[in-house]
Amino acid sequence: MDHTLPKQFENAQDFLQLLGTDYIEMYVGNAKQSAYYFKTAFGFQEVAYAGLETGVSDRTSYVLQQDKIRLVITSSMEKDSDINRHFLEHGDGVKIVALWVDDAESAYEETTKRGAKSYQKPTTHSDDNGSVVTAGIYTYGETVHLFVERKNYTGAFLPGYVPRTPTYAPEPVGLKYIDHIVGNVDWGQMNVWVKFYAEVMGFTQIISFDDDDISTEYTALMSKVMSNGNGRIKFPINEPAEGKKRSQIEEYIKFYNGSGVQHLALATDNIIRTIHELRERGVEFLNVPDSYYTDLKDRVGAIDEDMEVLKRYKILVDRDDEGYLLQLFTKPLMDRPTVFIEIIQRKGATSFGKGNFKALFEAIEREQEQRGTL
Ligand code: FE2
Repeated sequence: MDHTLPKQFENAQDFLQLLGTDYIEMYVGNAKQSAYYFKTAFGFQEVAYAGLETGVSDRTSYVLQQDKIRLVITSSMEKDSDINRHFLEHGDGVKIVALWVDDAESAYEETTKRGAKSYQKPTTHSDDNGSVVTAGIYTYGETVHLFVERKNYTGAFLPGYVPRTPTYAPEPVGLKYIDHIVGNVDWGQMNVWVKFYAEVMGFTQIISFDDDDISTEYTALMSKVMSNGNGRIKFPINEPAEGKKRSQIEEYIKFYNGSGVQHLALATDNIIRTIHELRERGVEFLNVPDSYYTDLKDRVGAIDEDMEVLKRYKILVDRDDEGYLLQLFTKPLMDRPTVFIEIIQRKGATSFGKGNFKALFEAIEREQEQRGTL
């Protein structure tokens, strides 16, 4: 068997030794209700909590988990706080993409010496369950990568959090792990951040699309996908491209007031069951026209799933050289048309659904038209 790395990873300098995504933290206006939404609609389990009852007076955080995916939903208890400033500026959004490391201090040193802007110097947090070291750097917009070293910790989440097992706990919907996390950046910024991930984080570019690949009458975008050395972390970065009217990426930038996380892609190993369950619980997905399915077989060839079932659930399919994938995108999770979630199941494919971008954006544009923001 060939154990050499795929060609795209040959030059990856894995000086960061990222073990995976540790958690995603969202700053929101009302953490209690947002946590209820992620529990009820998406089947996340509440595993830990910090707030007034646990001696934390400035904020409330709910830690939600489903298999390997961990979300932290936080809101501020104080008028003037970084959390509230973030919320006023961006609405509910992703503040922290935390990365699991073996050595947070080294991750911080290696990235800051390569030019990363510091968010938080290495800090040790301790309680009866041991200690965790965290350190953070800024990425695009106000988004932060926090390095989390937890090898000396056995608690539920982080020091300061108490474990929770609430009686209200809707069943999981089969979400397994974070497949990729997409950032939208402003005009002319894509290559700046591609360079950041390459030079500061040691990532390698694995895929690139330009506006010829992904353009509809109104929406055009360019996208490059950056991956870390072991391939566990993939960050596509989108930039708007010139179209006739405002693109979906521009709409995001306008409502988010700048660059930020556009979507979290969550993997399942049974997308039909997962989408069925999410729809039952009221999660809204982008509308996919029935016409999408008329030439699907010609486009993707033979697949295991029944095309009629995929059409009923409006699940999208795309194929690359290595296999195929199934995916579907929710509508924005909040009133501002900003952050959404992608559900993805991979059947060999290692790409991101390029063939669906056009179908996706045509669907999004029908909705932009309804909002009058095209
Ligand atoms: Fe995606």
